Amino acid sequence: MCGIIGYVGPQDAGKVVISGLKRLEYRGYDSAGIALQNVQQPELLVVRTAGKVTELEIELDARQPLFSTGTAIGHTRWATHGEPTRENAHPHSSSSGNIVVAHNGIIDNYLVIKQLLQGQGIEFTSETDTEVIAHLIEHYYEGELSEAVGRALQQLEGTYGLMVMSALHPNMLVTARNGSPIVVGICDGETVIASDVSAVVSHTKQVIYLDDGDLLTTTSDGVSITSLRNLPVARDAIEIDWDIEAIEKGGFEHFMRKEIHEQPTALQNTLRGRLDFSSSSTKLSGMQMGPTKLADIDRIMVAACGTSLYAGMVGKHLFEDFTGIPTDILHAAEFRDHNPIVQRGTCMLAISQSGETADTLGAVRECLRKGAQVLGICNVVGSTIAREAGKGVYLHAGPEIGVASTKAFTSQVAVLAMMAILLGRSRRLSADSGQRMIDELSRLPELAQAVLDQEDEIAGIAAKYARAEHAFFLGRGYMYPAALEGALKLKELSYIHAEGYHAAELKHGPIALLTEQVPVIVIAPDSSGKSRTLANIQECKARKAPVIAIVTEGERDINGLVDDVISIPHCEEFIAAIPAVIAEQLFAYHIARERGCEIDQPRNLAKAVTVE
Ligand code: F6R
Repeated sequence: MCGIIGYVGPQDAGKVVISGLKRLEYRGYDSAGIALQNVQQPELLVVRTAGKVTELEIELDARQPLFSTGTAIGHTRWATHGEPTRENAHPHSSSSGNIVVAHNGIIDNYLVIKQLLQGQGIEFTSETDTEVIAHLIEHYYEGELSEAVGRALQQLEGTYGLMVMSALHPNMLVTARNGSPIVVGICDGETVIASDVSAVVSHTKQVIYLDDGDLLTTTSDGVSITSLRNLPVARDAIEIDWDIEAIEKGGFEHFMRKEIHEQPTALQNTLRGRLDFSSSSTKLSGMQMGPTKLADIDRIMVAACGTSLYAGMVGKHLFEDFTGIPTDILHAAEFRDHNPIVQRGTCMLAISQSGETADTLGAVRECLRKGAQVLGICNVVGSTIAREAGKGVYLHAGPEIGVASTKAFTSQVAVLAMMAILLGRSRRLSADSGQRMIDELSRLPELAQAVLDQEDEIAGIAAKYARAEHAFFLGRGYMYPAALEGALKLKELSYIHAEGYHAAELKHGPIALLTEQVPVIVIAPDSSGKSRTLANIQECKARKAPVIAIVTEGERDINGLVDDVISIPHCEEFIAAIPAVIAEQLFAYHIARERGCEIDQPRNLAKAVTVE
């Protein structure tokens, strides 16, 4: 949450930072700001606006010509402390104006420090937690910027990825990390530092990820990393394995639609090299588990949030059906709010597209502390969860920029299915069944494409229901998580109030809400529970609710029963959530489009929720 970027080099730093902020805007978009260094005089220009980066750019264009600059920091905000106003936008300045700070994260003990500083006569101009950092650095400043930053940070509790610039130190940035990601782009003669790699990849593919406790000093001569106490630290550079095109819209109106359409390719990449036809199993070397370790697992716990949690719920069905291993699903935050039982033999799966979600990361740390095996299922290579788990399976779905998660969900389910096959083959899954499952998995790209080919029909149905204010999504078994995911996509994109329910639960209360104005989307492809779900459709129709059914192509039992039909291709139940959810993604996308919503950046949201 929140995007930060800094630049030191020969280019116009204002332009580099603004273009980086546009790439980072999906991490937060309620206000933005930039600080630039004037190379002719010891002076900083700070420009901040409520609203989006384009508004910041307009204001900067009016003022920047006065400045000649090769160093700048920028920030795009998702508000935590204080409303999204200009005063609360970053960067924040110290009293003298000599020190400015852009910060991602939350300082837990800021009130104590604020009171202390106020007691010394320092006046605060914002409601943010960040402003204390600027004043505290100034308080410790005795001529060395990085030393003052290190001393100030030792007083802080909480999380930060932050950048500091000083009027007194031209062409220098000091950056630090504790809990919020920082990636450093290593280029020839210039350095770009950001909260994620999407702002760096247009400059270089060689990056260093800072670890918690690292303090990076950047000058025109290059970078050096130390601890907060000034001890040298070595970090390896890694190469990013995707290109700038992956984060362009590529002719699509929205990133979300592009990412929905990328799913056949993303699934292909997720499966590539992992289906082992010779052993009727799968190869997931990142799990770093041989047959003995696999056999030792007697319980699985899934920790995740939002869409990733729903993918995990599909995983529960997969693990229990094909491996016999009891599987618990937990909202990641519950690992600290509650005290789940983690025993020897427990394997925890941390599912996270971004690999930075604070609650999921907290669950990973809690489980590692308790001695469990922890596997990360992440999309972003080098992300904190992937690194701290130390083992797991990458999705290889390519960058996801649309704030609403799409291709990550389908790739997560594909990974969980491959894990279930691997674990199942080390237990009760026969070679024949394993073979049948990997054959079916290899069809995923074609199944995804078959749903995408129906986009026009789905858009037509979406247009019919675009004015609804409430909706229900129903499913059972493997389709229950699909119902939850369909409702989540619709509400976050279109602001229609949507509820996902187990199909059998409707009559236990929520049915009271059904009227002819409340569409019900029922996900009932070929599956063991289909006939019972079809009976639930009757119950909805008896209350005059319009019903849209997502069913297997050629389904006859719904003829005359429902108002609209979306077909998905024939496939086995264990992967049917993938085509069903793609249909729901298109449905939600087109409803949001009809309603004129901001599809890639819905109200109040941000990609990568790095606060608890
Ligand atoms: C919904 C959505 C969120 C994320 C959730 C977890 O479309 O994107 O619900 O799924 O914030 O994010 P990750 O997977 O990055 O941990």
